[in-house]
Amino acid sequence: MILVLLGPPGVGKGTQGEMLAEDLGWHRLATGDVLRAARREGTRLGREAQRYMDRGDLVPDEIIVGMVRERLERLESGGGVILDGFPRTVPQAEALDEVLGELGSGVDGVLELTAPDEVLVKRISGRRSCAECGKLYNTYFDPPEVDGRCDACGSSLTHRDDDDAETVAHRLDVYRAQTEPLVDFYRGTAAELIRVDGDRSMSDVQGAIRSALQQRLGVDGDGQ
Ligand code: AP5
Repeated sequence: MILVLLGPPGVGKGTQGEMLAEDLGWHRLATGDVLRAARREGTRLGREAQRYMDRGDLVPDEIIVGMVRERLERLESGGGVILDGFPRTVPQAEALDEVLGELGSGVDGVLELTAPDEVLVKRISGRRSCAECGKLYNTYFDPPEVDGRCDACGSSLTHRDDDDAETVAHRLDVYRAQTEPLVDFYRGTAAELIRVDGDRSMSDVQGAIRSALQQRLGVDGDGQ
């Protein structure tokens, strides 16, 4: 089962993708997380990606597609795969079809999360993440027990470099121009297109996702 998570910055792709992966025992491949890890480690990929990410632009397709191909080829077979933040352009979606075709599979479902822009902007302004283990928090909606410290490992919490107001506004424009057309792209494929209102509590959104996956793709509680 290959499930693509689609939606604007801050809509909750990472939050919901992690909950799903944990509950269903699926793999989750989040291209933004992979790029941020590469930046922290100072690898060539991280250095190449940095200037695009800091501006809120997309990293060029050829860099991303190579990175995803390598990771998909390495995944152990069995269980589902959640693709969070990939594909993000039509050429990436076409390249994904090609890679999956070579691996004998294809995209089964595309889950589009939606929320109004003002909700996205507020969520992003309150987002904090653990510098050590990556756990996500939100100063408005999901604060840590001790201000600025991760509940899980005690490390300090950071605000993402691309989460300032000006870059967020640009990321939203980039999403509308380059990523939203994927909804029409997938409408013309065999993948099941599922839209879920993300402007609800985290647990309500997860509940809606789980019931849609059950009804539309037959995914039950143990992820089969
Ligand atoms: P990426 O990291 O993928 O960023 P994004 O798509 O902009 O999405 P976000 O991570 O901002 O938001 P999210 O939807 O995951 O929300 P989250 O769960 O964190 O990409 C970053 C950059 O990398 C791109 O700009 C680009 O440069 C590059 N890149 C990545 N993939 C690429 C690709 N395929 N091609 C080219 N370039 C690529 O939630 C946000 C906050 O809200 C959190 O604090 C959370 O706790 C809170 N929250 C979540 N849900 C709720 C809720 N229901 N109620 C209240 N609060 C909530």
